[in-house]
Amino acid sequence: MSLAQVHSRAQLGIQAPSVRVEVHTAGGLPATQIVGLPEAAVREARDRVRVAILSAAFDYPSRRITVNLAPAELPKEGGRYDLAIALGILAATGQLPAGGLADCEFLGELSLSGRLRPVTGVLPALLAAREAGRRAVVPTCNAAEASLLEDVDVHVADHLGAVCGWLRGETSLPRPAEVAGARPVRSPDIPDLVDVRGQPLARRALELAAAGGHHLLFSGPPGSGKTMLAERLPGILPPLQPHERIEVVALRSVAGLAPAEVMTACRPFRHPHHSASAVAMVGGGSHPQPGEISLADHGVLFLDELPEFSRHVLESLREPLESGHIVIARAAQRVSFPARFQLVAAMNPCPCGHAGDGSSRCHCTPAQIRHYRAKLSGPLLDRLDLVVQVPAVDLAALLGPAAARGESSSQVRARVVAARELAMQRAGCINAGLAGTALDRCCVLAVADRGWLTRAMQQLGLSARSYHRILRLARTIADLEPCETLQRSHLAEAIGYRWR
Ligand SMILES: Nc1ncnc2c1ncn2[C@@H]1O[C@H](COP(=O)(O)OP(=O)(O)O)[C@@H](O)[C@H]1O
Ligand SMILES: [Mg+2]
Ligand SMILES: [Zn+2]
Repeated sequence: MSLAQVHSRAQLGIQAPSVRVEVHTAGGLPATQIVGLPEAAVREARDRVRVAILSAAFDYPSRRITVNLAPAELPKEGGRYDLAIALGILAATGQLPAGGLADCEFLGELSLSGRLRPVTGVLPALLAAREAGRRAVVPTCNAAEASLLEDVDVHVADHLGAVCGWLRGETSLPRPAEVAGARPVRSPDIPDLVDVRGQPLARRALELAAAGGHHLLFSGPPGSGKTMLAERLPGILPPLQPHERIEVVALRSVAGLAPAEVMTACRPFRHPHHSASAVAMVGGGSHPQPGEISLADHGVLFLDELPEFSRHVLESLREPLESGHIVIARAAQRVSFPARFQLVAAMNPCPCGHAGDGSSRCHCTPAQIRHYRAKLSGPLLDRLDLVVQVPAVDLAALLGPAAARGESSSQVRARVVAARELAMQRAGCINAGLAGTALDRCCVLAVADRGWLTRAMQQLGLSARSYHRILRLARTIADLEPCETLQRSHLAEAIGYRWR
């Protein structure tokens, strides 16, 4: 046979479009050509594939070989097609039966020795293979990721020779779950709330944020425990649902994170530095990569020292905060990444951090303080449902024997899970996601309370945009009690958390 076709998959955002690797051999001067708009990395594949084929004790044909990666318009990068190209060449030259190739997809970069090296985005590729009704072979190094999907017919291999033996029916290839260490039991060190002394208001806000998915801002002097508190939010959130975990792992895989980091079982906690660029934050690049907001999908995005972030970066968060995803448009392509993150931010009240702490240490001028806070636009602040002052803790209270230990994360998480279940039963989403008629249905106010809320908002100078946000937060406050009807006390507490 002088023509062979092998199935593989590209990576486009979190999608994995099908790529057909067609190999044609003909007489003439020996040469190998790869067409189909491949980039430099794919052209390098030619040399890797040739040496790998020789290393696996096959012949590299001295014929004219044309490799076409179709469709041509799809951008292609990296060595992910190496295995498919090698198999195509071997099938086109009669060194492999072409029969097994039709119903299977292959992903993997080849080393010069013929070993299979890991590729990114295996999970999206396997989901797409399942959709197409085909089996798949991926590198053993990607076994952990592949083992997350139970209903996909996938094998792993660590060498070109092993794949060929399997295609010839001579040997078998293991399943991902059979590979040692495929399911790393990583017990991540999420810090526990039990370490936090005092700070009842901040603890309450953290619990509300977890129960309803509300965005949260801690403001207070340095050392008051803002970072410490924020880091404890993932520990009181319920574990990832299986479908959420697949999305989280797929995003990490596409982003090329280290395998140990890809296979997380707990909710993400991303903590980008305030010098982060807009691309690092929301994603981008010529081959669009997910940014911090997508790596925080189904988890927490923690922005410490909020006013230190560039205004441009902060503004770029507004749209994904609203929509739960980010669209990155490039000349050739448009990709969308999920970004359902929960924002937790921390800031000092002034540039030196000591304004209003009663210590008279602060010498910031009113103009300096205004300038510092002006970075935070009204629309961004409106999206923060819980704004909480975290006072400095008294050292004696912190260290003294009287310093009562607070509840542990697991105790708080039990209440959070119960409140979330109420919300899910009522509306099918957590309270922060309530909108439209569901919001009206779930947040019914007595006539007198509606009037009271409107007046209170006017007196406090709150924007009309906050109205629904106050209702959602009040819903969460009621759910934690639990109380089915929304009452004035719930509204009053919710309104107290608005930025002023
Ligand atoms: N409420 C608290 N309970 C126990 N330790 C605290 C508390 N607040 C602060 N600390 C201690 O102070 C350290 C600094 O806190 P940190 O969270 O970094 O403060 P901030 O982010 O507000 O500047 C923490 O690592 C912790 O050891
Ligand atoms: Mg801090
Ligand atoms: Zn100051």
